[in-house]
Amino acid sequence: MDIIICPSPNDVATKAAEILAEHAGGRMGLATGSTPLLTYKELIRMHEEGLSFAECEAFLLDEYVGLAPSHPQSYAATIRNEFTNHIDIDDARVHSPQGDSGDPHAAARAYEELLASTEVDIQLLGIGADGHIGFNEPGTSLNSRTHAVTLHPQTIADNARFFDSADQVPIHAITQGLGTISRAKRLLLLATGQNKAKAVAEMIEGGLSAFCPASVLQAHQDATVIIDDEAASLLAYADYYRFADANRP
Ligand code: F6R
Repeated sequence: MDIIICPSPNDVATKAAEILAEHAGGRMGLATGSTPLLTYKELIRMHEEGLSFAECEAFLLDEYVGLAPSHPQSYAATIRNEFTNHIDIDDARVHSPQGDSGDPHAAARAYEELLASTEVDIQLLGIGADGHIGFNEPGTSLNSRTHAVTLHPQTIADNARFFDSADQVPIHAITQGLGTISRAKRLLLLATGQNKAKAVAEMIEGGLSAFCPASVLQAHQDATVIIDDEAASLLAYADYYRFADANRP
């Protein structure tokens, strides 16, 4: 794992955007949530300065069950509002699981088939306070494929801020599995803030375990983790990671 510790969330975004920009013409896996927003802003700024995403194909990690792409809180709508509507990617090239198909298991299988027919060059990830990536909650098989899940009440509570009230947050979602995510050639996980420090420490320095789904990055051949000082605050080896980053071989 390549671990990069930055002083601030803005520095995390600058570094992440720099890496993602190298894949602007490739197949990019996108995440929703608050963490990547500054990165998307930076990529939009780079687009305004000439970076083209016209050849890019984008794949979302997950979607709420029951929300149509037109629903403002669907991840399909969110990624368009926050990122892809502001760059030159054709909307038909932005893919996500179909949350409103009426059969989440069939929708999960269809999305898995789509992903199996391609190779994602770089997958952007956030991490939940419980160590989830995508909507793979603790206990998810490390080799899982795209599937329908029941969200943890904490994830529902965390995501209530995007809805008018917690009871509007769907309790089910379709997510790429940990095995699906791991097929991407490169993984790029971002985390900022003190409330991610425990999950980050478990992901990097804990055991490889379904109890911390993000620990699956330990088994990936090309995983980069970019975090700010606060998210790094519980890492036992933080000083070494900084030293190694400053003195690359
Ligand atoms: C979003 C996703 C989630 C989030 C995670 C962190 O597509 O898959 O795993 O990345 O819940 O969310 P934020 O960034 O809002 O803290």
